[in-house]
Amino acid sequence: MPHSFAWREEYRLGINSIDQQHRHLFEIVERIAKLDAASSSKEELRQILGELSQYMREHFSDEESYMESIQFPELEQHRKIHQDIIEFFNHSISNSPTIAMIQTKLKFIIKKALIEHIVSEDIKIKLYSMKKKELVDDYSMDLD
Ligand SMILES: [Fe+2]
Repeated sequence: MPHSFAWREEYRLGINSIDQQHRHLFEIVERIAKLDAASSSKEELRQILGELSQYMREHFSDEESYMESIQFPELEQHRKIHQDIIEFFNHSISNSPTIAMIQTKLKFIIKKALIEHIVSEDIKIKLYSMKKKELVDDYSMDLD
């Protein structure tokens, strides 16, 4: 798997809890990418894929709680995108009989579901939380 699928600083949102989880997702993916298709067992792969799928759910749920906490206006759309990613992931994986095929599909999934999602959707959470913080700062400045 090319290096371009590794975590990059530009994916950082500046929201620590979410950034850490995104990093961890990339780490799990990296472990799958590094599996040697010839010598790894399907059981080994199944285990990591299970871990990835579970962690993805936990992460989405935490991210949704964060969006709720800042009253993010596009929460419902974002939640729907998360559900679609989970379905897309499960569908792609369950239709791939070999480790090599799963690794190939995974590249596509990572690009679509992880990287593109972070840079095009999760970034909106960051922008909104920044805007909100600015409003709060402006408001408290008015009080001075
Ligand atoms: Fe998200």
